[in-house]
Amino acid sequence: MRTIQELQASIARLKQESDVCILAHSYQSPDILEAADVTGDSYQLSVSARQSNCKRLLVCGVRFMAETAKLLNPDKDVFEANPEAGCPMAEQFTPEQILAEKAKYPDCAVVAYVNTTAAIKAVSDVCVTSSSALQIVKAMPQTDILFIPDCNLGAYVQAHCPEKRIHLVQGGCPYHGAITLEEVLAAKQAHPNALLLVHPECNPKISAMADFVGATSNIMRYAKESDAEEFLIGTEISIVMHLSMACPDKRFYPMASRLICPDMRVTTLADVERVLREIADGSAAAVTLPVAVSQGARHSLEQMLCYGNG
Ligand code: 13P
Ligand code: SF4
Repeated sequence: MRTIQELQASIARLKQESDVCILAHSYQSPDILEAADVTGDSYQLSVSARQSNCKRLLVCGVRFMAETAKLLNPDKDVFEANPEAGCPMAEQFTPEQILAEKAKYPDCAVVAYVNTTAAIKAVSDVCVTSSSALQIVKAMPQTDILFIPDCNLGAYVQAHCPEKRIHLVQGGCPYHGAITLEEVLAAKQAHPNALLLVHPECNPKISAMADFVGATSNIMRYAKESDAEEFLIGTEISIVMHLSMACPDKRFYPMASRLICPDMRVTTLADVERVLREIADGSAAAVTLPVAVSQGARHSLEQMLCYGNG
């Protein structure tokens, strides 16, 4: 049996030999994050994918993140560490359903959360991530916005952007969105001194009672910089572990211990090493996207990066 250190050493050698940049979402396990070149939330990974000088990209996260990296780097070979890792929210609507919804609001712009398939991005005007959604919607010229697919993130944007009319569809994260107010109240009662830090994919009633609402990286930054000593973490449970490792003098508790994304857990360090060996021997399958959707999807992502820099 190989140790974590042996796998990480093999990964370091293989990625250098094949000129691969490893991008890992913050929900991945610590052994993968240690082996990665770039870690962060969806927005940070998108920006880094665009900036990398490597010939190849290997994404540890879920499928839409690998698709995003490919769309932003059409000339690079992009690989997913485990192709079974998808995001259920990304698959909740078909392009036809979104176009039918759009027809109800003739002057609206379609704003797609980046947690969508390339086909959905292709029928959207601009993509957003949880860290950039508010800034981008505020900066857009349109008053009517069809926000897809996460109704909780859309409601969060509406609450902080009253000058816009945000039209929602009933989609969302099956894990963040399933946490109930009662569970959070029980967690607060168990840890009365803890600050509540919440991802905007959670129910708006939970976001409304949070001390801080933000994307994964913003939650982590807030916890690290805060003078407080205890925190309830309202996002995927991996962040409790990462923060506990980063801040040994602080205490972190899950807002709900069932807030686990199985798709983010499916990728292992052994997968990363295996795909790198397959890249080296030419047998790895790179991410491919239908030409018919790539151009429109890329445009929506490029709009996101333009607004995000603004
Ligand atoms: P971030 O935008 O915070 O990376 O979130 C992605 C995600 O899938 C949250 O569930
Ligand atoms: Fe998708 Fe939810 Fe998992 Fe994020 S936590 S990848 S939104 S299913």
